[in-house]
Amino acid sequence: MPIFYNENTRIFKLDTKSSTYVLQVNEGGYLIHLYYGRKLPSTQGVEKLWFRGKYDSLSAQNPYVDDPYFSLDIVPLEYPCAGAGDLRIAALQVQGAAGDAVTDLHYVGHRISGGKPGLPGLPATFAKEGEAETLEIELEDKVTGVHAFVLYTVFENYSAMARSVRVENKGQSAVDLERVYSACLELPGMGFDCVHLHGRWAKENTVTRHALQYGMQGIQSKRGMTGPNHNPFMALAKKDCTEESGEVYGLNLVYSGNFAIDMEVDDRGTTRVLAGINPAEFRWHLEPGEAFTTPEAVMVYSDAGLGEMSRTFHKFYMDHLMRSEWTKKKRPLLINSWEAAYFDFDDEKLVEFAKAAKELGIEMLVMDDGWFGDRHDDLQALGDWYVNEEKLKGGLAHLIERVNALGVKFGIWYEPEMINPDSDLYRAHPDWAVCAPGREKSLSRYQCVLDMTRQDVRDNIFQQMFDVISKNNIEYIKWDCNRHISEAFSAQLPPERQGEFFHRYVLGVYDLMDRITTAFPHILLENCSSGGGRFDAGMLYYSPQIWASDNTDPIERLTIQFGASMCYPASSMGAHVSACSRTDIHTRAAVAMWGTFGYELDPYEMTDEEKEAVKAQVADYHKYYDLTHYGDLYRLTAPTDDPFQCDWMFVSPNKGEALYTRVIMRKPDKPYQVAHLRGLDPDRLYRDEETGEVYSGAVLMYGGLDLSARTWDEQKDGACVVKHFIAQ
Ligand code: DGJ
Repeated sequence: MPIFYNENTRIFKLDTKSSTYVLQVNEGGYLIHLYYGRKLPSTQGVEKLWFRGKYDSLSAQNPYVDDPYFSLDIVPLEYPCAGAGDLRIAALQVQGAAGDAVTDLHYVGHRISGGKPGLPGLPATFAKEGEAETLEIELEDKVTGVHAFVLYTVFENYSAMARSVRVENKGQSAVDLERVYSACLELPGMGFDCVHLHGRWAKENTVTRHALQYGMQGIQSKRGMTGPNHNPFMALAKKDCTEESGEVYGLNLVYSGNFAIDMEVDDRGTTRVLAGINPAEFRWHLEPGEAFTTPEAVMVYSDAGLGEMSRTFHKFYMDHLMRSEWTKKKRPLLINSWEAAYFDFDDEKLVEFAKAAKELGIEMLVMDDGWFGDRHDDLQALGDWYVNEEKLKGGLAHLIERVNALGVKFGIWYEPEMINPDSDLYRAHPDWAVCAPGREKSLSRYQCVLDMTRQDVRDNIFQQMFDVISKNNIEYIKWDCNRHISEAFSAQLPPERQGEFFHRYVLGVYDLMDRITTAFPHILLENCSSGGGRFDAGMLYYSPQIWASDNTDPIERLTIQFGASMCYPASSMGAHVSACSRTDIHTRAAVAMWGTFGYELDPYEMTDEEKEAVKAQVADYHKYYDLTHYGDLYRLTAPTDDPFQCDWMFVSPNKGEALYTRVIMRKPDKPYQVAHLRGLDPDRLYRDEETGEVYSGAVLMYGGLDLSARTWDEQKDGACVVKHFIAQ
C-alpha cells in the first residue's frame, strides 16, 4: 500500500514508484511537512531535516507547543493558515463571526481508504480501488468551528499525487472563506527555477524559466477563465535540472477559472508554493452545516528531468483524468470550415467541402461558427442556437444526411457561454448577460458572457443544444469561448455572496458540460477558447482534445505545442494543417502530427500536388496514430532555446518504433548537424524505414543521427525531416 502511518511518530509516508512525500502531526496538532523527493526506503531521521529554531525575537512563540523555540512562522506546514503566528502566505483564511481572520488548524484524525473520491461539481482525477489510495486528514479551528479535510491521493504507478481540501462549517455561526487553496508545497531552500507557460491570443503556452527570488511571486488569472496569459501549470526545477536529468516538481490545477500559483521565498531562503483558486475577488460564505470543496491540484515528481515529468503527466492524465471514451478510441480525421470559409458558407458549400474531403480520405466535416440564428459575422446571434435555414436550406438534418451519404461524419460548433446583445435571447432576457448594477457592459468581440451561475440560464442553453443535437446525427462538438469576464455580478446572488461569482461561474460551465457529455456520451467534444485560452486539465476531464491555438502557422505552432506538452498529452492538442503559405504542406503536416491532426483549409484552393500530399498525410495519420497518440514524447531541441531548429520524437511504449521530426525554423548556422535521439532501447537495432539503414539504439542516442544538410532545400527555412525507425 502506498500510504503508511506510524502511530508512534505520527508520521505519514506517501510512496509512489519513484517518490516519497512525508508529513507529520506534531505535539501541537500541527501538520508539518517533512519531505518530498526521491523515494525513501525509510523515514528514519527525516524530522531533523528542517530548521525549527525560533531564530529571532520577532517570530511569535506558539502557545500549543511546549518549546519556546517553536514558531509557526518558520516551520514547513501542510496547510498553513492566516493570523496565528505564520506570517507567510496562507493557504486558508477564514473570517468568523467576530470579524477577525485568525485561523488555526489542529489535527483531529485521519482516514486512509482505497481508490479516490470524486469532488462534487468539479472535474478531478479518478481511480478504482487498487489503483490509488487516499489519505484524508481532518483539522479543526476551535474558535470558528471550521474543519478542513486535507486530501492526498497517491497514484503509486505514476509518481503523481492529487490534492484537494474540503472545508466544513461545523460551528454555530456563518463564516467567510477569504482564501482556500488546494495545496501547499514547502520546498527546502530557494535553489529552484520556475518553469511556466505564458502567452496571449495566438501565442499560447510559451515556456519561460527563471530563478526564484526572495519575496512574493507567481502566476494567476482573474479573467473568469484560465486565459492564454498564464497556464495553471508550474514546475519547480532544481538549478541543474534539464530536459533529461535532475529533480523537478510539477504542479497543475484541474481548474478552468481564476487561479493562482503563488510562491513566497522567505527571509530564511525557504520556499512556499500555493496552488488553487485565486483569492483576489474571491470570498465564499459558509453557513453552519455548509461545505466548500477546492479544485484539485496534481503534483508530479521526477528525478529524471522535465521530459520525464511531462511524460508522467501525459500518461497519468490519459489514464486517470480524461474520461471521454474518445481518449483511447481512434478519433476521426476532420476538416474544419473556419479558416476555409469563416462565416461565408451555405449547405451547398459544405456538401462540396465534404465531397472534396472524402476524396482526400478525410473522415469528418466540422461546421464552425455561423450556422445558427441570424449569424452572418461576429456581430450577432450568440445565444440563438437554432439553425439558420437561409444558409442551410432544407435544415440541418438534410445537410447532415447529404454529408453522411458521402461517407463523411458531421460535427458542429457552439459557444454556449456567450450572448450577443443583438440576439433573440438577449431581447428576451437582458438580465442573463453578466453585468454589475449601474455599470455599462464592456463588450468583447461584440458579445457578453451569460450568467452561468444561474440554473435557469444553463437549463435554457442545455435545452437549445439538446434540441439540435438530439435530432441530428452530430458526432463532434467544438465548444468555444471567446471572451473573458468583466463587470462580474449575478442578479441571483445576494450581496454577501457576490464574491462567489467567479467560482460559481466555473461550476456552472462544468455543470453544463457534464450534462451535455452525459446526454451524448458518444460525441467527441473539443474545447476551444479563442484558440488555446482554456487549455487546462479541468477541460480535459470533459473533452479529450482542445484546440491549441488560432495560430496555425507551423513555425509559430512549435513554440505553442512545445509549451503545452510540458503538461498535456499530444493526443489532447488540437492541431490542423491550414492554408498558411510560409511553409510547405509537408512541414505543416509534420507539426500537426504532434497533435490531434486535421485540416482547416478550403480543399478547392489546393493544387493537385498538394492534394496528393494530403492523401499521403492521411495515410501517415493512420500509420502513426498509435505512436503519436499513445507513444512517449521526447523533446530534443526547444524552439525557445535554439534559434534554428526544433526537434522531437515519439517512441512506442515497447520501444519497437519511433517517429523523429526536425523542423528548420531558420537556415542553420552550421551545416554539420547531428541529432541525439532519445527513448530508444540501446540494445536493439532500428531500421530507418526510408533509407533501409540499420543503427543500434545506442548509436542513435549516444552517437547521434547525422542530419547534415546536403542540399539547399534541406536547410531552407521551414524545411523538415521526418524519420520512422522500426526495431528489428
Ligand atoms: C475562435 C476559435 O479559436 C476559432 O477556431 C473559431 O472557432 C472562431 N472562434 C469562430 O468564431
